Amino acid sequence: MTPTDPSFTQQLTTRPTPVAERQAMLANPGFGNFFTDHTAIVDFRADESGEGGWYGARLEPYGPIALDPAAAVLHYGQEIFEGMKAYRHADGSVWTFRADANAARLNRSAVRLALPQLPEELFLESLRQLVGVDVDWIPSGDGESLYLRPFMIATEAFLGVRPAREVSYRVIASPAGNYFGGEVRPVDIWVSRNYARAGRGGTGAAKAGGNYASSLAAQLEAEAHGCKQVLFLDQANDNAVEELGGMNVFFVFRDGSLVTPALSGTILEGVTRSSIIQLGRDRGLTVTERTITLEEWRGGVASGEITEVFACGTAAVITPIGRLRDGDEFIGAPDSAAGEVTMSIRTELLGIQTGVVEDTHGWLTRLV
Ligand code: COI
Repeated sequence: MTPTDPSFTQQLTTRPTPVAERQAMLANPGFGNFFTDHTAIVDFRADESGEGGWYGARLEPYGPIALDPAAAVLHYGQEIFEGMKAYRHADGSVWTFRADANAARLNRSAVRLALPQLPEELFLESLRQLVGVDVDWIPSGDGESLYLRPFMIATEAFLGVRPAREVSYRVIASPAGNYFGGEVRPVDIWVSRNYARAGRGGTGAAKAGGNYASSLAAQLEAEAHGCKQVLFLDQANDNAVEELGGMNVFFVFRDGSLVTPALSGTILEGVTRSSIIQLGRDRGLTVTERTITLEEWRGGVASGEITEVFACGTAAVITPIGRLRDGDEFIGAPDSAAGEVTMSIRTELLGIQTGVVEDTHGWLTRLV
């Protein structure tokens, strides 16, 4: 195949998950617990000069990956991934949201992690192939979808520190409900003072597994303090708010305007983040990407200038933030209700994704 040939071969499972078992999983999917029957795969090989191409596009039964113990991903973490969702519409058709943005981000991450870029046609076709055969795995409850996890790993068996010349791109799928479990309700957030997620020139803007690995010690600290997620600051820059462990942050101000931290090279450019910026502007709201410090958060909540704060991401959609906990200090009220603006943007975004609100920006791509 040529580097951009998107034709896949299909080897379907001879042992699909029994219907009753699948239905039990779909009845209460949670997040990231269950996986569909197949996986899409495309491999890459380069020669010593770095020239190479993608080959062997195929659909296989879901199962363990055979990796050489010396595979570079296991030693140097050369890995990137994406998070997307497939939504079933009322007429039975299945759509995904802003796939072009995810394809572009995967390739920006690939450049940063010295992995090969994947042609957008291959990316899209891998989603079509997988969702096409595992279409019965899409849950249909409110806010539910099939989470798609494209990822790329360095498979070459070589312990020298250089970009691997053998790489595998794969997609798995997982029925998904609310990321935080149960109904949508405000979550409390822990301010990380001991750990940073990213630094200037680092990999913070890439969707690389290592960023998430480095967030886990802080996440444990958050949980030990009764919080669901951790907030990372740029402590060298007036405690500028960056992002949560795996989500961007938005502030709603009293005048209805929205503020989100500017992309500084250390923050992940969330597809949900950029969609909310657009939807806010469509509503005539002022939406600003700028530095917002912990001090402004504290002061704004105390004065009533900041009326709502929410987290957003593909997995979390839009999740209201309740209290922020900084050591022994709490910012915000306990048991606060989800904000009106937060929930109305959430409803609009989910409405577009599930086909009940008009997609005026052409964000949806049909998969099935
Ligand atoms: C997503 O929102 O898709 C994410 O990647 C966040 C997290 C589950 C890693």
